[in-house]
Formats: sequence, C-alpha cells, structure tokens
Amino acid sequence: MNLVNIKNQFPIFSKKINNKDLIYLDSSNSSQKPKLVIDRLNSFYSNEFSNVGRSVHALAVAATNNYENTRVSVQKYLNAKYKEEIVFTKGATEAINLVASTYGQKYLKEGDEVLITELEHHSNYVPWHYLRNLKKVKIQFAEIDENGDISLESIKKKINSNTKIICITHISNVTGAVLPVKEITELAHSKKIPVLVDGCQGAPHLKLDMQDLDCDFYAISCHKMYGPTGLGILYAKKKWLEELPPYQGGGGMIKEVKKHNITFAELPNKYEAGTMQTAEVVAFDQSIKFIQSLGIENIMKHENELMNYALDVLKKNNSVKIIGNPKKKGAAISFTIEGIHPHDIATILDEDGVAIRAGHHCCQILHEKLGIHATARASLGVYNTKDDIDQLNSSINKCQKIFDLK
Ligand code: ALA
Repeated sequence: MNLVNIKNQFPIFSKKINNKDLIYLDSSNSSQKPKLVIDRLNSFYSNEFSNVGRSVHALAVAATNNYENTRVSVQKYLNAKYKEEIVFTKGATEAINLVASTYGQKYLKEGDEVLITELEHHSNYVPWHYLRNLKKVKIQFAEIDENGDISLESIKKKINSNTKIICITHISNVTGAVLPVKEITELAHSKKIPVLVDGCQGAPHLKLDMQDLDCDFYAISCHKMYGPTGLGILYAKKKWLEELPPYQGGGGMIKEVKKHNITFAELPNKYEAGTMQTAEVVAFDQSIKFIQSLGIENIMKHENELMNYALDVLKKNNSVKIIGNPKKKGAAISFTIEGIHPHDIATILDEDGVAIRAGHHCCQILHEKLGIHATARASLGVYNTKDDIDQLNSSINKCQKIFDLK
C-alpha cells in the first residue's frame, strides 16, 4: 500500500499555522489525530455517554461493552494471551508508576537494584527513583556506546545478583536507537529477572507481539498512537497482575468493602480505580482500526524510507550535527547546529509552519552524558512526506542565514 494523502484523514492539516501549511515533525512528543478518532469522541459524548461498569441502564451497558471491546482490540493488536492483561491507565507514565509502585512495594528491599539505561526518558526513571528513598533501592544505568546505542553487552555488564528488574525503552526518543528488547528479555529471564519495556516510542512504529517479545510489562502511550490524550495502556503478564497489590484504591477496583477488610476485584478491574477515561478508551478503538487499515508493516516501511531520506538530506547539510548513529533507528532525529540554540531553531522553523521539539526531550541523563544541554528534534509520523523533510531542510537553511552561518 502506498501511504499517500494520509494527511487528508487528519483535520489539522487543513489548517494554516503562521499562514503556512503545517509540517508536523513532533510525533514522538504526541501524534496528530485522524478524523475518525475525533468523530468517535464527539459521537460518544453527543449520543452515547455514560460511565462504565456501574449502572444497568441501556447507555451504561452499551458504554461498558464499547469500553471492553477496545480492550479486546488492544489484546489482539498486541497479541497478548489474555484480555485481562490489558490495563487502561492515565498514560504510559502512570503505567510505569503502577509497576514501580506495586513491584517495589512487594518485591524490593534495601540493596536491590533496578537496571535502566542512559536512554530512558523521565517516565522510566523518576518512578524508580522514589524507591531509592522508600526502600533504599539502587538504580544502575546501562551505558550507551558512541553511537547512542544500547547493546546486549552493556546490559549484561550491569546485571548482578542484586538486579531485581530491568526497565528499558523500546526506542530512544532522542537518538532513535531501537533496543534489542527480545534478546534483553531472554537474557533477563535466564537470570529470573522480569523486564519492563517502555513502549512509548515503540508502539506507534513497530509491529508488536507480546507473546513473542515475552516481556513482563509493556507501557503504551495512546496519544502517540493517533489516539486521545489522557490514556495509556499497561500490558502485564497475568501472573504479575495476580501477584502484585492494587495500585490505587477507589470505586470499581473492589469486590467487597467492610469496616475491617476489603477484597479486590478480578483482573483487570483491580487496577482500574475510579471513573476511567471512558470516551478516550472507546475512541482508541478507532486509532487501532486506523493503524490496521494502513497496516503496521506498511507504516514501518514508509517511516523507514522517510527516515533514510531525512538522514541523507540532513547529513548533506554541513552545519547540522545529528545526535547518535544507532544501528537500527526509529522515527526520531535529534540534531544541533553550532552557534544556534535549539530553541531558536525551533522558533524560526515554526515561522515556516515546521513544528519540531527542542530541549532535553525529558532525557536529562542522556543529554548530560552527551555533554549538551539541548537538541532540536524532528520526529516522524505516518502522515509525513519527503516534501516535509525538504521543507525542514530549507527552513534549517533559513535559520542558518538568520544567524549568518551560511
Ligand atoms: N513526550 C516526550 C517526547 O517528546 C517524552 O519524546
């Protein structure tokens, strides 16, 4: 399938930004939303709204069925073994906090180590940091190589008898490095260590198969997958969800509440406390359908071709320095231009309607390691085209002229 004219399916691309066509290159931050997702949110709120899992009136029953249908769609999309392994959360951040908090509470003690990597964004570091104070747990960092890659070897080096969980990103949101998560999981499991994969950047761009990957936990950010904000998914093997304690307490996650005792609901409700993001979950089904209608293999091919094109173009632009050169690269290119602050690059590009992100991209550890405060980042989505990359390059040239570097 040729992925042309995909922008037509996204209302935002009919708008002008600073009187220019929008060139959206910030999908690692958050993706734009196709019309069918927006329409589903609108129609759910307009015609079908009810809370789920509580009342027995017609609207409530229909909403509950729609909500649960999305769970089954996600289960199938991820090839998870059971639908109970799919937990809806407020975001990928909450999914990781859920694991850090419950796993930390039940299994970690003083001296235990959590192994992460220098590539992690803050959502896969800060939740583990709390356990330093709470449980005197240590955090180890597997180190990047000169290309901004994490090898199996660098993980191996940091594993020891105190390592109690390994938490790694699937794709770096800065260097774009795709980590060998399956091999890391095999290695970890051979030492009886569970693995959490932060799939924020992996899920929108890669074909996922939880049974094949075999990781214990996989966190997903729905708003990066052409879905609504405020919604994430935690995939967790059933045995973990059965063993771990609940994360938050409240309505919907209990079985029986007495003055002296409380019992908890069956999976996955045990982890879905309070009123959930009903409309967002219902609409996310359309995001999955959107991806399936294009085919994830076609999306991967399209984004891969575009990434190679972007790298060719930007490498020819002498003043652009691309950060990292990983063997396998996902949809993000971070770069610097000597003499121009990344925020200035982003502001000047914005005048041309080119939306990128500048800063540390929630990865201060990585930027410190690289010895830079900030980078500019162009990240791809299914709607991007070679013309977008050409416009990016010509706006970068304009930026250089403004700063008299050309
Ligand atoms: N949302 C963050 C990004 O832009 C983490 O990569």
